Order: sequence, then C-alpha cells, then structure tokens
Amino acid sequence: MSAGDLTGKVAIVTGAGQGLGRAYAVALARAGASVVVNDLELRVAEETAALAGGRATAMAGDVGDRATADALVARAVEAFGRLDVVVTNAGVLRDAVLWKMTDEDFDLVVRTHLRGTFLCARAAAIRMREQGQGGRIIVVGSPAGQHGNFGQTNYGAAKAGIVGFARTWAAELARAEITVNAIVPTAWTAMTATIPIYKPLVARVAAGEPLPAAVRREHAVGMPEDCAGLVVFLASSAGSGITGQAIGVGGDCLCLYSHPSEVVTEVRGGGWNVDAIAATWQEHFAPQLQPYGIRLPKLELA
Ligand SMILES: NC(=O)c1ccc[n+]([C@@H]2O[C@H](COP(=O)([O-])OP(=O)(O)OC[C@H]3O[C@@H](n4cnc5c(N)ncnc54)[C@H](O)[C@@H]3O)[C@@H](O)[C@H]2O)c1
Repeated sequence: MSAGDLTGKVAIVTGAGQGLGRAYAVALARAGASVVVNDLELRVAEETAALAGGRATAMAGDVGDRATADALVARAVEAFGRLDVVVTNAGVLRDAVLWKMTDEDFDLVVRTHLRGTFLCARAAAIRMREQGQGGRIIVVGSPAGQHGNFGQTNYGAAKAGIVGFARTWAAELARAEITVNAIVPTAWTAMTATIPIYKPLVARVAAGEPLPAAVRREHAVGMPEDCAGLVVFLASSAGSGITGQAIGVGGDCLCLYSHPSEVVTEVRGGGWNVDAIAATWQEHFAPQLQPYGIRLPKLELA
C-alpha cells in the first residue's frame, strides 16, 4: 500500500469542474477514492467525473446555498455509502480596490469562499461525527489571505477567514479524529491567467509550453496537478497526525505557514496610555513592524 492509498475512501471536491478542483478530484480518484464532483454547471462537473473514472459522480450546485452542501453529503452517502474527505475548493474572484468595490462583488466572493466553506465543512463534520471513524476536511486559502493583496478586499478577507476556520475546527474536531487543514495552492489556472504579470505567458502555456523553471521555483506557480499530491497526502493515512495547519504548495515549492502570534509583548503595571505607548514604541515595537502584501521576485517573462 503506498503512502497515498485511498482505497475505500469517499471524497467531495467543490468547484471541481476545472482548474485546481479538477486536478484534486482526478488525483483522489486515481489514489483509489470515490469522488463527488461539484461545480456550478453540471456539464463541467460531469467532464471531471469522466476524467476521474468510474468511481465519480457529478452534482451541480452553488456552494453558497445550504441545500448544495447538504445534497453533496447526501450524494456521497447514497452513491458510495460514506464520507471521509471534503475539499472546499470552489472559488471566484471579483477584484477591485476598496473604494471601487461594489456591495455585490464583496458579497459574492465572501458568500462563495467563506460561507461556502462553512456550509460544506459543517455538513461534512456532522456526517463524519455520526460515522465515528474520523475524517479529513481540507479548506483552501490563498497567498492573498496570508499576506493581503492589492485589489482583493473581498478575496483576501475570505481566504484569511478560511485559514481561521481551519485553526478553530481543528480544535473542535480533534476528539472525533477529524483533521482540518488549509492548503494554500498556487497554480496556473483560469484565475492566475488573469494576473497582469503573467500576461506574457498566456499564449505560451496555451500552446503547450511548460512554465519557465523560474516561475515554478521563485513564484511557486506550476500546473494544477502540482498541487494535487498535497491533497492526496492530507486525505490519506499519511496525513493522520496533521491538523490545524496552513500548508502552501505550487510549482516546485511546498511550505508550512506560521500562524499569527505576538512578536513583541511589553507589560506595564496599570496598562498603556498614549504617552507610555509613545515612549516604548521606537525602541521595542518599531524594529519589529511586520511586512504586508504579496511580494514576488521580479522575473523577466517576455
Ligand atoms: N490558481 C491559484 O493560483 C490559486 C491561488 C490561491 C488560491 N486558489 C484557490 O483555489 C481554488 C480553485 O482555484 P482555481 O484557480 O482552480 O480557479 P478556477 O476559476 O479555475 O476554478 C474555480 C471553480 O469553482 C467554481 N465555482 C465558482 N463559484 C462556485 C460556487 N458558488 N459553487 C460551486 N462552484 C463554484 C467555478 O465554476 C470553477 O470551476 C479557489 O478557491 C481559489 O481561490 C487558487
């Protein structure tokens, strides 16, 4: 039995009609799992299910609706008898700077990512706890959520919230032996192809050229299949002791993120008034101010 053997396991992957979700669904099926493939459109979900092979079933639905989350779990149980793994991958972008972001774009992105992850994970956790045999919840963050990113008020906040979910749910579900981890993938998909710095690569990748080695190494961007091994690893018995983590994967890179924690703490009897803060700031806090925003090395891609 290989490290990633998922024979007899049943998984749900949301937003799996293309991109990363499709790669996860196909990899989980190849590792032996039966897979429920979700997307907004049945046609693309069915295409993925066909690629995944005989042990996959497609179901359309918006993950922002509670009915979709409940129906996905019900389908896993009806079609395959149980549920072991859920990957809450469905996602959408509506980028704009804060002062130009509409209510609709804010709500759509938060609803799809944050509410969709909550609804699917809750439905899965209820079923996994009833089964009493543990399980795996794999949620999906983003570098935008880890660092903040220009133009991504809605997305950055939703993705940071999702990593927060993983830390909270890992604690809540530990007793039931359900692990909860956030993966932070980076890959060439419909989503990344819209990023201005990668514009010179769009035609080349479409023509079948591999991504330049520097992009895979320095930007951690490869193809979706490069991220699928981490999903299979976490879903398998090899991932059983791992929970509450945020793990990055993409191109040639695999990384473990830190969780936010205090970098400086000063204690003052009676608390901190403005003069006391001003007096200590320069010496103890100013040297420790934290970087923010995604910072990628500059690459010559033309
Ligand atoms: N591509 C990257 O580099 C990258 C980086 C960080 C995070 N991510 C995250 O990975 C996930 C997949 O990204 P991708 O690049 O493959 O994107 P993609 O746009 O190629 O695929 C997203 C899929 O989700 C589906 N979807 C959208 N809204 C949905 C909804 N409400 N219900 C069900 N399905 C829905 C879409 O139809 C699409 O098939 C997303 O959560 C994304 O935020 C991607």
